[in-house]
Amino acid sequence: MAIWNLGSINIDHVYAVPHLPAPGETLTATAHSMGLGGKGANQSVAAARAGAQVVHLGAVGADGAWTLERMAAAGVTVDKVLRTAAPTGHANIYVDAAAENVIVILRGANWAAGPEVFGPLAAAAAGDTLLLQNETAYQAEAAAAAGARGLRVMYSAAPFELGAVRAVLPHVSVLALNAGEAAELTRALGCGLEEVPVPELLVTRGSAGAEWIETATGTRLHQPAFRVTPVDTTGAGDCFAGVFAAARDRGETPAAALREAAAAAAIQVTRPGAGDAMPSRDEIADFLARHG
Ligand code: RIB
Repeated sequence: MAIWNLGSINIDHVYAVPHLPAPGETLTATAHSMGLGGKGANQSVAAARAGAQVVHLGAVGADGAWTLERMAAAGVTVDKVLRTAAPTGHANIYVDAAAENVIVILRGANWAAGPEVFGPLAAAAAGDTLLLQNETAYQAEAAAAAGARGLRVMYSAAPFELGAVRAVLPHVSVLALNAGEAAELTRALGCGLEEVPVPELLVTRGSAGAEWIETATGTRLHQPAFRVTPVDTTGAGDCFAGVFAAARDRGETPAAALREAAAAAAIQVTRPGAGDAMPSRDEIADFLARHG
């Protein structure tokens, strides 16, 4: 089956800093690099490098040609990505010595394209998967179109906005959240995770591991995190989501998909960057062979 991804494409400007900036502080970065980012592009690259057939839907400006070349080199189909007069979205990312980050994004082309951006979903088949994150326009419309065609819709509620989550929720098969997003959502809905009205939840909790919940049965699976020394945690959640989606698309069980995704994220955080740091399927298999 195929994975379609209506997702952001960003140019990430990454600054290494001694500590994360405080309000009013002027800080000197010790290094700067530019790489492929955007939660959407990161998930597409992660899924494609994990072996899935991935078609990316989205938009870039004239300055973003190299981002598409990089995604294509990772195996992502990018010929449906639109070009806009608006510049490519970008992110300023500060990474400290403990590998934690602060990210500020400018939406740019990600929100500039019209509804034709999700038109190619008309060619999707039942059983395919649609990935969505809260970094593009037309999330709810694309989710509804995909749901009507029998696609599984996996939504990453990041950056977290309650209104955006509520709009897509009726069409979502798998809701992906980090620990903070899960807490915000359950507080806002006034319910436990098992009562969130979606069939499945995927909750990543950094070094505390990840869990998968099937709400109809109350089944909960927990996957511990593999112990590694991170250098940059940017995009780790995207890596987890993309590899989990690829494994499920291949027919793996939720438990096997969680394990692969945890291994992939463990590799990814030991490398600098976001989209450029996604591991291949062979690297994931090799890591799992070495870590039991
Ligand atoms: O999740 C990490 C991503 O968030 C970065 O690559 C940045 O572009 C922002 O979208």
